[in-house]
Amino acid sequence: MGISDGNTLKQQAALAAIEQIRDGMIVGLGTGSTAALAVTALGDRVREGLRILAIPTSERTAAQARLVGIELTDFSAHPRIDLTIDGADEVLPGRLDLIKGLGGALLREKIVAAASNRLIIMADDSKLVSKIGEKAPVPVEIVKFGWCATRARIEALGADVALRKGTDGCAYVTDNGNYILDCRFSSIIDAGRLEADLARIVGVVDSGLFVGLATQAIIATPSGLQILDRR
Ligand code: A5P
Repeated sequence: MGISDGNTLKQQAALAAIEQIRDGMIVGLGTGSTAALAVTALGDRVREGLRILAIPTSERTAAQARLVGIELTDFSAHPRIDLTIDGADEVLPGRLDLIKGLGGALLREKIVAAASNRLIIMADDSKLVSKIGEKAPVPVEIVKFGWCATRARIEALGADVALRKGTDGCAYVTDNGNYILDCRFSSIIDAGRLEADLARIVGVVDSGLFVGLATQAIIATPSGLQILDRR
């Protein structure tokens, strides 16, 4: 699949997801290239008269939403979100377990997902896996202080761990001022258990394992859209 084919598929998934957004909704806006396509298309609908308020999952998405005319709100005004649309790095059909965070926004994405009545994932079929961790590393957001000690604790769980670097070659810093460790596990038997084990490590803020959060995945394939509901 070429890059433009991939973008066409992402666009199809994004357009199908925003069709589910209705007047008066509080909407969570994800981060990444697929979410950016959805935000652009949602901006068009807002200009046509759709009335929504949105909570973004990153500074990047917030800036884009403002640019296309989507009004933003926050958790102090709206602690619950009707519907969140977001991308993912891996999607497991059936349970809809996910890996997220290759775009660096996993913590705000998880906070927004956990506050949402529905989380719809938009992706092309390259994101489908038969086992979580098959293609992507698990991103883990950690506080900077003592990060080498935190890395050692995660390595003790059996992971190959790399500190994420930015394009400038320096450590990547999230919107929350933290580092990200990209962790490759040889085999993830139970994603929920691993999520809990990681969360228990001192210094870990959260991981990009999303278990039991997604309600639906809209997967664009060359032969059409697949709608996967969590079973
Ligand atoms: C951002 O932190 C990620 O969780 C993204 O949602 C994920 O990386 C998918 O990104 P793309 O839509 O760019 O593939």
